Amino acid sequence: MLYRLLRPLLFALDAERAHGLAVEALGAMQRLRPLRWAVGAALRVGSPRLEQDLLGLRFPLPVGLAAGFDKEGRLVAAFDALGAGSIEVGTVTPQPQDGNPRPRMFRFPAQQSLRNSLGFNNGGMSEVEKNLRSMPDFSIPVGINIGKNRATDIEVADGDYAMLAQRLGGLAGYLTVNVSSPNTPGLRSLQDPERLASLVAAVRRVCDRPLLVKIAPDLDAGRAIDLCEAALAAGARGIVATNTTTEAGGLPGARSEGGTSGAALRPASRAMLRTLAPRLAGRCILVSVGGVDSADEAYARLRAGASLVQLYSGLVFRGPGLFAAIHRGLLRRMDRDGHDSISGVIGADL
Ligand code: FNR
Repeated sequence: MLYRLLRPLLFALDAERAHGLAVEALGAMQRLRPLRWAVGAALRVGSPRLEQDLLGLRFPLPVGLAAGFDKEGRLVAAFDALGAGSIEVGTVTPQPQDGNPRPRMFRFPAQQSLRNSLGFNNGGMSEVEKNLRSMPDFSIPVGINIGKNRATDIEVADGDYAMLAQRLGGLAGYLTVNVSSPNTPGLRSLQDPERLASLVAAVRRVCDRPLLVKIAPDLDAGRAIDLCEAALAAGARGIVATNTTTEAGGLPGARSEGGTSGAALRPASRAMLRTLAPRLAGRCILVSVGGVDSADEAYARLRAGASLVQLYSGLVFRGPGLFAAIHRGLLRRMDRDGHDSISGVIGADL
């Protein structure tokens, strides 16, 4: 309700500026402990039926925040209070970097979609370390999504990922290797089976945290399966599918550079899950992300074989009550279909 009133004001601002304000507001909520508790009491759905033990971690709820919103790990306790089931911090790079020139984030409200070409703007690993070490209490798993600095030659990118894993692994429930952002030149060339296997092995040598790999939606089915198989053989425990798509079709006036998220990404993200799940569900964790903004969509992804779901763009269009609305909606659908626990939902359609 409140967000419906605030949204026109936020949408009157440049998208990245509105994001900055949202981060400030959530940071203030996080610092005011009584407010954080009140928000948590209103929005956190506490139901053992939604809990899962995955990757050696307890996920209290299946739908979490995707990477890119909280690049520096400032808002873990805030998103815990908002009812997210997990948070993926990052993408973080070893050194701080500014990213691409602004403007670089655009809303398409009619299409419920975003297009961004941020380029891993972030404060670097020391900043993330500092923020996570000083985070107030929280009860959700924190993933840290890692990537290479733009200035690092792609041939030696493994070194950046290994350095990040070594420095931040101890603060992470799990790590996600991001090889799929369209906004760092050459990054997606790491989506080659041999190249990815070597990267996964390099990270595994220095860090024993569970490792996921985040892939692009723009891979054809055979290539995606080969890539995921190579990642699993090298020791990855799961796949996050998907990052943004370079396709800009359907977004009027969109720039050619950047990546699309939200509803316009939904068909490709669903299709990737349908490609991967029959082969991989049960052998690894599948995290489905891309265009999820309702309980129906989250439920469908879980039934299609995802163990976890993430979202970002839906928050922009539907507001911070979205996690609570989806989790309540999941419980209603489980009642309807006779599922006692969420693990019975995972892969029900396979
Ligand atoms: C992202 N995303 C992203 N992903 C990632 O692995 N590292 C990152 O730094 C970012 N940054 C980022 C910024 C912005 C503004 C957006 C909109 C997205 C991608 C994100 O995690 C997710 O994969 C896609 O946005 C698809 O999910 P939604 O947004 O359709 O729910």
